[in-house]
Amino acid sequence: MSIQRTAVIGSGLMGAGIAEVLAKSGLDVIVREINDEASAAGRARIEKSLARAVEKGKLDAQARDEAMGRLRFTTDIGELADRQLVIEAASENEDIKKSIFAELDKVVTDPDAILASNTSSMPIIRFAQSTSRPERVLGVHFFNPAPVQPLVEIVSSVLTADSVRDSVTEFVAEVLGKNPIQAQDRPGFIVNALLIPYLCSAIRMLEAGFATKEDIDAGMVGGCAHPMGPIKLADMVGLDTCLYAAESIYRETGDPAAKPPVLLSRMVDGGLLGVKSGRGFYEY
Ligand code: 3HC
Repeated sequence: MSIQRTAVIGSGLMGAGIAEVLAKSGLDVIVREINDEASAAGRARIEKSLARAVEKGKLDAQARDEAMGRLRFTTDIGELADRQLVIEAASENEDIKKSIFAELDKVVTDPDAILASNTSSMPIIRFAQSTSRPERVLGVHFFNPAPVQPLVEIVSSVLTADSVRDSVTEFVAEVLGKNPIQAQDRPGFIVNALLIPYLCSAIRMLEAGFATKEDIDAGMVGGCAHPMGPIKLADMVGLDTCLYAAESIYRETGDPAAKPPVLLSRMVDGGLLGVKSGRGFYEY
């Protein structure tokens, strides 16, 4: 199947980035948001990132305009009827995601369509079981910022058809130009199973007064050649997303390293979500 008609559910940090990647790859993209305000914010996010790509010499003005021309925003999920690939990138709430998959199952008419989730750590099988076509559901997990990071985790549940896994893997590599890796449907898949305990450890270190945030970050940048330190990275990923991923990994594995630090919970309660809210551990 040649995938041309795509959709993304949600245009937050990840949804906007994924929609941008799809549009830049020449695909027709519908972005579904919950209201016009959220759609406008998503559009602005994509415009800003495309402007940055032009500024950095990664894209010319014509390609930018063509990419924007391939994007359409809607609040009506019914408009996704003819889509061949839908990537869900709503907030990390299992009930919300399950109900989105149940709705998609009703509205997407093509029996060959693929329904994917960009969840950072939640079980793909639960979303698959919210549909009547679990063999056509899988995880397609991008990394932030999606237009820049080359990796995509392909996550097969115990019911995902091999043919679906293979065609999405080929699509990600050949059409999107990303590097796919195969992950099992286990908490955190590959990357977040390693990353989330690391970010939680760094926050615990800060919470315990072990070192300043600047020194923790400088340690991993200067000592291990990471592009950014863990405290800054947590702010960039979004402290809410870090918390929900940690909760979901901890709930299933009981791994103490993934136990959400109290400071992280308090910051999320206080609306300090990192870059996206203007303030997290750092100010933006
Ligand atoms: N579009 C296209 N390309 C862009 C771009 C854009 N909007 N913005 C930047 N770039 C390109 C630049 O041209 C540059 O390319 P080059 O290396 O070929 O010159 C490259 O991206 C880096 O950009 P900059 O040098 O300008 O560096 P910045 O400071 O702007 O951005 C960063 C840095 C890419 C965010 C880098 O610090 C980084 O990689 N940080 C780590 C990010 C990370 O770990 N992400 C994973 C998070 S985990 C996750 O997402 C999973 C989730 O489930 C939790």
